Amino acid sequence: MSDPAGERYAQVLESFGLAAEDLAAWRASGLPDEAFAGWLTDRVARRPSGSRAREVYGAEEVHDFARRAILEALELGPADHLLEIGCGGGLLLRDALRTGARVTGLDHSQDMVELARERAPGAEVVLGAADRLPFDDGTFTAAAMAVVFFFLDDPVGVLRECGRVLSPGGWVAVYTTAAELRGTPAAPEPIASQGHFYTLAELAELAARAGLRHVEVRTDNGGQLLTAQT
Ligand SMILES: C[S@@+](CC[C@H](N)C(=O)[O-])C[C@H]1O[C@@H](n2cnc3c(N)ncnc32)[C@H](O)[C@@H]1O
Repeated sequence: MSDPAGERYAQVLESFGLAAEDLAAWRASGLPDEAFAGWLTDRVARRPSGSRAREVYGAEEVHDFARRAILEALELGPADHLLEIGCGGGLLLRDALRTGARVTGLDHSQDMVELARERAPGAEVVLGAADRLPFDDGTFTAAAMAVVFFFLDDPVGVLRECGRVLSPGGWVAVYTTAAELRGTPAAPEPIASQGHFYTLAELAELAARAGLRHVEVRTDNGGQLLTAQT
């Protein structure tokens, strides 16, 4: 029997490298048609899950440009304790450990937490949400977000949370996707329409509203890098 809706979903999933396992997950979700773009955004990037997500976020080259920009900006050393929010497959955590720093990752995807624990042995990785960080005030010296900020509905609240868990003088580094990349493989539809793009001035304004100081923003390798201090 023909199943035009199923074929349409299968085609979209295939264009994101997803397959039968993911189509089965969409069907099992029981969500209505209009929820598909949001479900796909979660599956692929906002809360990645499934074997394809493990493959993508465990790959050496995934967001290596963001990882590099953040680590160069933070200049971590053995006296530091880094928190990465939305750590995905844990490659930034792994690279940060090489500086001698203590390293903690947080992600709200159980699949990503498990992958990060495998890819970054030596890091502590916890399941949790960016807007309610399960850490005491002043726990860290640095906080990072790589290709996560775009998905946050309350960016000021999350930056405030970063400020709270950082010790005085601690650094925040955020790498996010620039609006110019909308519609490219870096920010394809329908995912691009599910998130938030900012100008550099808007990013700086968000950090200032969160009470951060010494705010600097710049374009970097097609994306945007925000750094600020508590
Ligand atoms: C596009 S992936 C990027 C992963 C990794 N930072 C990288 O650069 O490869 C976004 C990650 O942020 C996580 N994430 C998104 N929103 C989050 C939130 N509110 N709280 C915790 N994790 C979140 C997702 O589960 C996902 O692992």
